Amino acid sequence: MLAINDFPAFKKVATPFYYYDVDLFEKTIKTVAELSKETGIKVHYSVKANADRRLNDIISSAGLGADCVSGDEIEFAVTCGYKPKDIFFAGVGKTDREICQAFQVGIGAFVVESLEEIQIISDIARRLGRKASISLRINPNIDPHTHHYITTGLYEDKFGISDRSFDEAAAMVSTDPNIDFFGLQFHIGSQILEVEDVVRLECEKVNQIVAKFESNGLVIKNIDLGGGLGVDYDDPDRNPVADFRTWFSTIDKWLVRRPDQTVHVEPGRSIVAQCGSLITEVLYVKKGENRRFLMVDAGMNDLIRPALYGAYHKIENVSAHYDDNDGRETRVYDVVGPVCESADTFGKERSLAKSHRGDLIAIRSAGAYGQVMASNYNMRPFAPAVYSDRLVEARRRKDYFAGE
Ligand code: LLP
Repeated sequence: MLAINDFPAFKKVATPFYYYDVDLFEKTIKTVAELSKETGIKVHYSVKANADRRLNDIISSAGLGADCVSGDEIEFAVTCGYKPKDIFFAGVGKTDREICQAFQVGIGAFVVESLEEIQIISDIARRLGRKASISLRINPNIDPHTHHYITTGLYEDKFGISDRSFDEAAAMVSTDPNIDFFGLQFHIGSQILEVEDVVRLECEKVNQIVAKFESNGLVIKNIDLGGGLGVDYDDPDRNPVADFRTWFSTIDKWLVRRPDQTVHVEPGRSIVAQCGSLITEVLYVKKGENRRFLMVDAGMNDLIRPALYGAYHKIENVSAHYDDNDGRETRVYDVVGPVCESADTFGKERSLAKSHRGDLIAIRSAGAYGQVMASNYNMRPFAPAVYSDRLVEARRRKDYFAGE
């Protein structure tokens, strides 16, 4: 069950909101920073997973770098205190404006995805009188055994440079006077749970590809294995911190590293998913012909993962836990939002404590790709962030009726 230190204060916060457990978050960051130190693997947090200012301040203070995918993410990363040289700029469609922004900030490396992009970045570097530090994103053609929407390292995906262009890419980065070759980058997909098998396969493939580039005369100073470590959506309390140790040790074991090479990773989800929950209030309990609906005040505009990927998030009635000591009987509900779409469903046939209007519901593991993917569809306002240690400062529920 979601851990809340001060439930009376929690109950007074206006819903829906994203609740971040700061203790759990700090514990996660500490684990990652320690493993990074132990193994020498440099960690660049993937800002796209959650761009909350406070969480990013904590991440940058622990010495992690950032993986960014837009000009605005780069500028945000700098204001959060990430060191410019520890910022990578990835993405299949960088605009000229964003490339210039990245030069202005002085980022560590552009992660480029095509031959055309190498040429464009080189041209802009020349015009600015700068040198571009370039990493080549490789498509290693590996199946990460995850949802096809978040598989990125297969030939049919739009990402990365594939075998047929290796020689040409190598020639471009080694001969162009406007380019400093930084290294190779690989990212095969997200929410990887078969960590040992998939990461071993990835490392073996990376070893071959690094050798191939070296045989072309390139010196590979940096190898970036991307992100992708999965989290336990079924039971976030069983595994509140992702299995970073297995990830780092599998890399350590299977990746061939020379002493002068630096290995990087870019985790997003595993850093932020488990500390976040979307908190919503039950508006109505509606009996349909053959289903019981729990209509809540958060919608797919607040958390789109179930509608977009059919993603599973654990759902709990927190009022039943904290007010009634879990004493209530259970019922089976479809948990749905107020948006005018049938896809606005957070979970079907979920067994929950018998719920009433006004109960608070937690949709767990929502810290990654939750708040950042929100929209104001149906002109619904954005759900704000509320931190576990700042509950009393959060926006209060409105008193709609005089005297309440
Ligand atoms: N590096 C690159 C190049 C990426 O494309 C991504 C994620 C990451 C790192 C971070 O991966 P992570 O550690 O978070 O798996 N919205 C989807 C996930 C999209 C992932 C996009 N790329 C979801 O909600 O599941």
